[in-house]
Amino acid sequence: MSAVASKTWQGLAEHAGRMRTTHLRDLFAADTKRFERFSLEHGGLLADFSKQRVTAEIMTALSGLWWEADMAGWIARLRAGEAINHTEGRAVLHHALRHQGTRPILHNGLDVMPQVHAVLEQMRRFCNALHSGEWRGATGEQILDVVNIGIGGSDLGPKMATQALAAYRVPHIRVHYVSNLDGAHLATTLTQLSPRTTLFVIASKTFTTQETMQNAASARHWLVSALGEQAVRRHFVAVSTNLPAVATFGIDPDNAFAFWDWVGGRFSVWSAIGLPLALAVGMENFERFLIGAAAMDAHFFETPAEHNLPFVLALLNVWNADFLGAESRACLPYSQSLELLPRYLQQLEMESNGKRATRDGSDAGCPTAPILWGEAGTNGQHAFYQLIHQGGRLIPCDFIVAREPDFPLPGHHDKLLANCFAQSEALMRGKTAEEARDEMETAHVPEAVIARLLPYKVFPGNQPSTTLLLPRLDPYHLGQLIALYEHKVFALGCIWNINSFDQWGVEYGKQLANRLLPIIEGRAAPEKLDSSTAGLIAACRRQ
Ligand code: F6P
Repeated sequence: MSAVASKTWQGLAEHAGRMRTTHLRDLFAADTKRFERFSLEHGGLLADFSKQRVTAEIMTALSGLWWEADMAGWIARLRAGEAINHTEGRAVLHHALRHQGTRPILHNGLDVMPQVHAVLEQMRRFCNALHSGEWRGATGEQILDVVNIGIGGSDLGPKMATQALAAYRVPHIRVHYVSNLDGAHLATTLTQLSPRTTLFVIASKTFTTQETMQNAASARHWLVSALGEQAVRRHFVAVSTNLPAVATFGIDPDNAFAFWDWVGGRFSVWSAIGLPLALAVGMENFERFLIGAAAMDAHFFETPAEHNLPFVLALLNVWNADFLGAESRACLPYSQSLELLPRYLQQLEMESNGKRATRDGSDAGCPTAPILWGEAGTNGQHAFYQLIHQGGRLIPCDFIVAREPDFPLPGHHDKLLANCFAQSEALMRGKTAEEARDEMETAHVPEAVIARLLPYKVFPGNQPSTTLLLPRLDPYHLGQLIALYEHKVFALGCIWNINSFDQWGVEYGKQLANRLLPIIEGRAAPEKLDSSTAGLIAACRRQ
């Protein structure tokens, strides 16, 4: 059943009607305790959602979705290892990868924790060997560069986290990420490297993904041309659920790191897919990252609706997207190190919840995942913020900032904080015509100029935002932050009654690309093509 049919949904629609004519600045004026009322804290992570267009009454009504969506039931099914990814018949157990207790986590009646610990131990040994120089390349030289070849979930998570934890990097190892099928990505990466001191991590859950297999084959050719076939075993390792395909590719089974089909690609950074991250920041930091996520798991699994951070963020998302009509959401990390977070969240949120069909096959009946976009502040301020301030669209924003800097250069961080808080304040308050006029009069601007400029100086405001304030961007709090978003995505899937763990929408393009490749290569006739596709292929072949 779609959520829109429920009584709670109808009640919320009535609240939304009233809220459309209410301004955030009036809500703040009427209640000096808004911050206390509408903020939550967990393990040092503070979420201030007082600048969202909600009242206590609306939050209570929204919380009704906990029961409506059977959140407690879904959390229990998730934890019990039931095949809640019903279209692929798979369990969803990424939380097991960071589980810290001694309680078993069952999948088909068997505890998965021994195999999780075995792979963590294998990663630990490998990181230590590489960092200490015990693991060397085929010529006996120490490995200095690691190139992760993977795409989607086998790239975005470790790449985002490697940059996020730049302050924790092991000094003598550089980690690079190659994902794009465009040869420019691999070629420009390899020009900086020597085959003698480079290790490739081939990361693919399925080990069949076209982009990764092509990049892996080209990297192998580059290495073998320089050092010969026997060098492959010292310069290639793999991370996959498909160990037979890893062996067929020619990677030594001893150098393969396993994970399992109960780990979705976009939830896999906690598995051996995190190996390049562990190589970049050290295994101890990787483990702190897991511990931070585990703390968020415990919070999500055990906290009642009104205080449950991931669930409350999910409610605000539903409120903005389905009741106030926001078509997109901006992710604005005030952190250069979190520059890749918007891209990571694009896959997490849009691949998970960009769907129409509910669990029973009917239409969701309401917009699901909003379009997610963003950029690190303050860069975004000088690019697209103009549209958020005065473009007339409703764009809820997530501001993310750390209290302490990860790179403490004098004079930077307070200014960064000031900019972050100023933007959310400006978006909330806006500036009335009266205020704009006052400002210009105080600056002795002539009346004729005031009259001409006034329309441009008015800011509507009433733009909702949430600010996530971390104590610092360290492995623990990064783990906590990413797990927060993961559980939010799951909670949204429960509310919309959609399966957040499949991705059928990605398949169709792959299918068609496989059909077009032989035509482009001239091995098949261009039959049954529309005139545009046929024309484009003909133009390429003429070249
Ligand atoms: O984009 C589709 C997808 O299946 C993602 O879900 C996944 O993260 C990515 O492709 C890569 O897949 P693999 O790890 O199997 O190469």
